[in-house]
Amino acid sequence: MSYEKAVEAAEFIKSKYNKEIKIAVVLGSGLGAFADEVENAVKIPYEEIPNFAQSTVEGHAGRLILGEVEGVSVAVQQGRFHYYEGYGIEQVVFPVRMLGLLGVKSLILTNAAGSVNTDFKQGSLMLIRDHINLMGINPLRGENDERFGVRFPDMTEVYSLEYQEIVIAEAKKMAQEKAVRREIETGKKQTINYFLRRGVYCGLSGPSYETPAEIRLLRLLGTDAVGMSTVPEAITARHTGMNVIGISCITNMAAGISGDVIHHEEVMEIGAKVAATFKELLRRVVLRIGF
Ligand code: HPA
Repeated sequence: MSYEKAVEAAEFIKSKYNKEIKIAVVLGSGLGAFADEVENAVKIPYEEIPNFAQSTVEGHAGRLILGEVEGVSVAVQQGRFHYYEGYGIEQVVFPVRMLGLLGVKSLILTNAAGSVNTDFKQGSLMLIRDHINLMGINPLRGENDERFGVRFPDMTEVYSLEYQEIVIAEAKKMAQEKAVRREIETGKKQTINYFLRRGVYCGLSGPSYETPAEIRLLRLLGTDAVGMSTVPEAITARHTGMNVIGISCITNMAAGISGDVIHHEEVMEIGAKVAATFKELLRRVVLRIGF
């Protein structure tokens, strides 16, 4: 991973958008809708950014969107690079390196994930409390450049506890407000539907989904949700000192739980169904941490 290449990409972005960027958001499979919240948006296709790889997977538009969410400057990565696409791991985390050089201090990583925890529901959200890296690779492997961070970075608190509290508080408020609205509309007492749970995300390389036996193993290891992204970016972000939030959209029950087969189309469809809730939660969190 060359520092100079990341500098070149960051300089290019600055030539297109010269404001201080506070927060970056990476939108996962089927979760691109938050990009609509960005005002005065400058949209840059990945192929225009020097040293960026190009996104290939369906559901990933592949562009960086710079602009404001109610006055907070953000960079939104609509589409990410996955290791399973065949990119080198340095290409997967290159955007994080570039965002770090642009001064971004807070990174919100989102993804679609399968639920290993049998209590979670399809279409709910999971706030990542911690992760397990079973991707078979670490993005920091190789010569360390001290300008990014130290050789052996601590990973005790990859996902900021302070930010986790903010996300939980905002999700609770949303659920309560919705129940009140429904109560007024229907005249009937409503139960509050807390759609956000907390759990451990396990990153695998993919692209095949897991076998039921693998899911049983992951459950024994303490996994709540499984996916094919996020872990490399989170490690890289911590290496460079960013505060990280991770949110998974539970698009399906993991293999062997319901007996249903898993389709990428279903993953995309559920992502689209929760888009409104997801977008609103992200907007609230951005406003809380951006000021
Ligand atoms: N497994 C791995 N990755 C995923 C899944 C899954 O079940 N659902 C969405 N991404």
